[in-house]
Amino acid sequence: MDSDIIIKVENVHVSFWQNNVGVYSIKDLITQHKMPFKTKTILNNISVDVRRGESLGIVGRNGSGKSTLLRTIAGIIKPDKGKITVNGTFAPILALGAGLESELTGYENISLLLALYGRVKVNSNAIESIKEFSELSDEVLCMPVKQYSSGMVARLAFSISLANESDILIIDEVLAVGDQGFQAKCMDKIFQIKAQGKTILFVSHFPEYVAKICNNAIMLDHGELIHRGTSEEIAENYRQLF
Ligand SMILES: Nc1ncnc2c1ncn2[C@@H]1O[C@H](COP(=O)(O)OP(=O)(O)O)[C@@H](O)[C@H]1O
Ligand SMILES: [Mg+2]
Repeated sequence: MDSDIIIKVENVHVSFWQNNVGVYSIKDLITQHKMPFKTKTILNNISVDVRRGESLGIVGRNGSGKSTLLRTIAGIIKPDKGKITVNGTFAPILALGAGLESELTGYENISLLLALYGRVKVNSNAIESIKEFSELSDEVLCMPVKQYSSGMVARLAFSISLANESDILIIDEVLAVGDQGFQAKCMDKIFQIKAQGKTILFVSHFPEYVAKICNNAIMLDHGELIHRGTSEEIAENYRQLF
């Protein structure tokens, strides 16, 4: 693989099992002579290259497959066809409401995710810098995450992913729910990370953010990659969708 390419996605197909052929009881299951499951295609024949240091935007309506693509690239989901090659390390993927353990406190989540991803030492400095960026109080960080507002979850999730020393940062809508002050601070931080030469995969429903942060972008629709181009072009395509 060209050493300039950090992520190569080739003809990737992902489908999930779906039970929708009308099996409602054990009797149905026994008496119906067909399989009770069929598969639903979530990603269909997706190919995309990401260069080292590039920021790639991913846009599309809800349910178009953006998060599934990120999870497949990160190796959490195995594609049923196609190939993914990655020449770098990932920060944890913390999408809206996903990736944090809701029963654990903020502090416990920080320790767990730092330990799991192992790319920064779980020491008081790392924890302190996450706490500082998140602007969450001690009291909040001692509460289980299930008691957090969506804004607090976003603050914690984003701050943890930033603390990682990985090559690839994945941002899946995390910015959407923070307040404006926090959003502006996150944008500054994302530009700093970009300037350090890290690669960013950025999912957002705000075309202006995609245009600002990303070099190139793709648009998904019902699991198909329907547009690719510069971030400005795709941001404009996305605006025209609605
Ligand atoms: N674990 C799963 N099992 C079955 N279907 C799923 C699963 N995860 C996501 N889906 C379906 O995959 C489609 C794409 O979801 P997702 O990738 O989350 O879209 P997006 O991030 O663009 O909103 C949706 O139709 C969703 O219902
Ligand atoms: Mg999503």
